[in-house]
Amino acid sequence: MFDVEAFVENSLEDIRQFVGENRIISACSGGVDSTVTTVLVQKSVGEKLLAVFINDGLRRKGEPEFVIRTLNNLGIRTKLIDAKEEFFAVFKGKTDAEKKRKAFREKFYKTLGRVAHEEQINYIAQGTIKADVIETVKGIKSQHNVLEQIGINPEIYGYKIIEPLRNLFKPEVRKVAHELGLPADISERMPFPGPALSLRVLGEVTPQRIEIVRRATQIVEEEAEQLKTFQNFAVLHNDKATGIKNGKRVYGNIITVRIVDSQDAVTARARQVPYEILARISDRITGEISSVVRCLYDLTDKPPSTIEFE
Ligand code: XMP
Repeated sequence: MFDVEAFVENSLEDIRQFVGENRIISACSGGVDSTVTTVLVQKSVGEKLLAVFINDGLRRKGEPEFVIRTLNNLGIRTKLIDAKEEFFAVFKGKTDAEKKRKAFREKFYKTLGRVAHEEQINYIAQGTIKADVIETVKGIKSQHNVLEQIGINPEIYGYKIIEPLRNLFKPEVRKVAHELGLPADISERMPFPGPALSLRVLGEVTPQRIEIVRRATQIVEEEAEQLKTFQNFAVLHNDKATGIKNGKRVYGNIITVRIVDSQDAVTARARQVPYEILARISDRITGEISSVVRCLYDLTDKPPSTIEFE
């Protein structure tokens, strides 16, 4: 049985010992894992904390504003780093999924290293959870936030890392969020991967292609909200298909919709979504995004699929 009170108490002590007389940065994307981590650090060492939100240009609509507002409401000192152009530059010409993941990870840690250097802070907290570690170590996917577990010493980027949630799965993280009194829009927040929409643009990641999947994601989230699923999202394919727009043949984009149920993201089932909801999603995506001519629904469970496409 997971003893949430004892977990919080031990974590606060571990973080206090780790930070000592120093200051610490918490890399916060606004997801439940990194926000819980940031709040644990705040409760543990207070003013020694600086939260950092990196705007990599890959976030969902309204997400940077949501994160900054949330951290402000929690009274956490936060620095916003605008790194959109740098991130798009590293994706240029890359189409291979693992190469894209590694490019993201490298840029993420270098950006964090730069901030740490500017702020003269060499301690970093991040919200890695057990599922991230398991999948990366097994070689299924290179999760952006897993370093030491695969033999990369974070000190090459110039800092030491603490991961208070590394032994927890998502349901336990949510329990910690409740224990810390976080609002429901954080504690119940749908999981969203660190490399964000870059995993959902198959092929090359460009600002234009991210904008298409951002718009489609917003539509899926709005229409699927009522289903209360573990995760729901849209994916932009690297292929094109023939369609008709305004009476003319168009060779346009393809979007796949993925809606899954899961406990801990280690296994997942595709939801049997009522057809009217799927039809509305398809009508809206093809109607509201001019370049999209085809909308598909992914029926596969995990395994054999993974939740994300990349
Ligand atoms: P997969 O696609 O491996 O995803 O079935 C399992 C869960 O992890 C999320 N995910 C990630 N989260 N960094 C993250 O922080 C990553 O690189 C990453 N890749 C996948 C995914 O959204 C799902 O919840």
